[in-house]
Amino acid sequence: MKYNELLNNARDNGFAVPQVNLNEIDWIEPIIKAANKMKSPIIIATSDNLINSLGGYEFVCQTIKNKTLTMQVNIPIKIHLDHSTSIANCKKAVDVGYDSVMFDGSKLDIIENVEKTSKVATYAHKNAVSVEGEVGGIGGKEDGIEGTIKYASIDDCIALSEKASVDILAPALGSAHGEYKGEPDLGFELMKQINDTLHQPLALHGATGISDNDLKHAIQLGHAKINFNTEVKKAWAQALRTVLNNNPKLYEPQKIIQPCKQAIEDAVVNLIKKCGSENKG
Ligand code: 13P
Repeated sequence: MKYNELLNNARDNGFAVPQVNLNEIDWIEPIIKAANKMKSPIIIATSDNLINSLGGYEFVCQTIKNKTLTMQVNIPIKIHLDHSTSIANCKKAVDVGYDSVMFDGSKLDIIENVEKTSKVATYAHKNAVSVEGEVGGIGGKEDGIEGTIKYASIDDCIALSEKASVDILAPALGSAHGEYKGEPDLGFELMKQINDTLHQPLALHGATGISDNDLKHAIQLGHAKINFNTEVKKAWAQALRTVLNNNPKLYEPQKIIQPCKQAIEDAVVNLIKKCGSENKG
């Protein structure tokens, strides 16, 4: 199933596909293991700001594809470029075999956002690759990108969806990357209006810290892709702290890394449950 078909199917059937961000190349295996164990589709995303430290677009893409083959996994494992502000980089990811790219023009005015996202969409669609666009402002900080919360306007959502032909829309609705300072305040009325107007899969960024109930509500209102990063990073860091504190003389990398990989796997299993995507692969 192609990426956009997967997300349309999720939207039609009341679940979301979890997106998990890749922070180290070693994370690929536990993410795939969790998805396989839960028979859930999964999206592995690379933030454009981290791509060089991960080894580059082609290396990441091939490594995920090779792992999927060697682990004999038959569930959909999709590869997505997260938050790119560069048309050239989106094209590079398309060229090496990513399933989807996100052009993040949310800091531009809507005319320029539409114009640049359209360029990416034209190129990506020729290569059967899906495109995500963003409007409004997602708060918080992630991989060097910082933003303040600015709820998307319905007119901007329509403009990006229709004029730029994005397959997936990420309207900022009160969520933030990283840890929330207070309680997240998702704009459900606006979310309903966007969902009723556009009838297309929406992506929710900054899902760490959003309650299970709010996530369920967001899924009912068209969110077919939910992005998690901080929650998995925290699980990994906690496991690393524990293994080193408990074994002050340990220096074998594999023995240190193994519990961290297990923590990633367990965290991703939990995210799959939150998204309701178990047995949907
Ligand atoms: P969190 O780090 O808040 O989970 O957000 C992840 C995200 O939105 C990636 O694009």
